[in-house]
Amino acid sequence: MARIALEKVDKTYPNGYVAASGLDLEIADGELLVLVGPSGSGKSTILRLIAGLEGVTAGTIRIGDRDVTALPPQERDIAMVFQSYALYPHMTVRQNLGFGLRIRKMPSAEIARRVAAVAETLGLSEVLDRRPSQLSGGQRQRVALGRAIVREPLAFLFDEPLSNLDAQLRVETRAELSRLHRRLGATMVYVTHDQVEAMTLGDRVAVLKDGVLQQVAPPMELYRNPANRFVAGFIGSPAMNFIDGAIEPAADGCRFTSPVVTLPVACAAASREPAVLGVRPQHLTLDGSGTNGSGALRGQVVLVEPLGSEQIVHVALPNDTRVVATVPPDARVAVDETITLRIAPSAAHLFRAHDGRRIALAGA
Ligand SMILES: Nc1ncnc2c1ncn2[C@@H]1O[C@H](COP(=O)(O)OP(=O)(O)OP(=O)(O)O)[C@@H](O)[C@H]1O
Ligand SMILES: [Mg+2]
Repeated sequence: MARIALEKVDKTYPNGYVAASGLDLEIADGELLVLVGPSGSGKSTILRLIAGLEGVTAGTIRIGDRDVTALPPQERDIAMVFQSYALYPHMTVRQNLGFGLRIRKMPSAEIARRVAAVAETLGLSEVLDRRPSQLSGGQRQRVALGRAIVREPLAFLFDEPLSNLDAQLRVETRAELSRLHRRLGATMVYVTHDQVEAMTLGDRVAVLKDGVLQQVAPPMELYRNPANRFVAGFIGSPAMNFIDGAIEPAADGCRFTSPVVTLPVACAAASREPAVLGVRPQHLTLDGSGTNGSGALRGQVVLVEPLGSEQIVHVALPNDTRVVATVPPDARVAVDETITLRIAPSAAHLFRAHDGRRIALAGA
């Protein structure tokens, strides 16, 4: 297995579209790194650059100790698994798994050994003599995975490999992939636009927007200390609430002010500066006392979504601001009712209004 490093990588497509710029990213040997971002943010482009299916416009790509920037895909020793996994319909599972090795003229005894081992790992031993049409979707996906694993490549690249599966199967296969990663100790880059998949699977998660890396960090670090407003809004469900206002110096630290809420925050402001307050739905609590004042938001309930384990409450505040709060399943909240929400202490995030960068809070 091997580490993968991208150094100052740019990719401009022939039509002039800049799909990646200034990428610096190192994936450690044996690490599972998840690349996440909205559609069109450049995730597949980055995988294709690593695999060698696209050439870089500038920069260097290393796999292990080798500079592979100029090498064709077959010399990079990497396996890629795509969303649409085309299995050969006329071949059995056994033949599908061994196909890539036969092409490479591997001795048949060795092929048989590897195929048996991979089938065992993926729970496919019982179905080795079936054709793809006789398999469930999840089994087919595992055959596609198996085809990559039998090659024993230096690293694996996955491009949304689970998105064709139904929700339950996706959760199961995700857990399987996680186990497989631990078992193989393999270097993996996994692309998804699903932030839950990113959080649950990744050793680290790289968040991408418009071809530019926004933050690379372990999942909980992204959740707790998002580097900017984009990451803050992308990671976490329901999404973080944002309230436009300003920070200004106060006696002790500074104060966030807005038509919607006023809140003391532990930062140092020398002068008044436009800012955005971020607070997660889980950090807004119902305040039955109805008192106003610092940290309180008063507004009208516009929608209540009961999820069983909790309720998601949408609230209209002054100044055309909407927030979402999660409240306990037994809380009595009705549409049109006016309620008070309170921001949990130390749950506030602050971002600069002009570029969305995080404003450091004391003790955060
Ligand atoms: N061959 C190409 N020529 C020109 N532009 C391209 C080419 N391939 C991709 N792009 C553009 O580059 C951007 C990034 O594409 P990419 O496929 O990497 O996105 P993605 O993050 O994988 O998106 P998705 O989640 O939809 O798969 C998109 O705007 C896309 O239209
Ligand atoms: Mg893609």
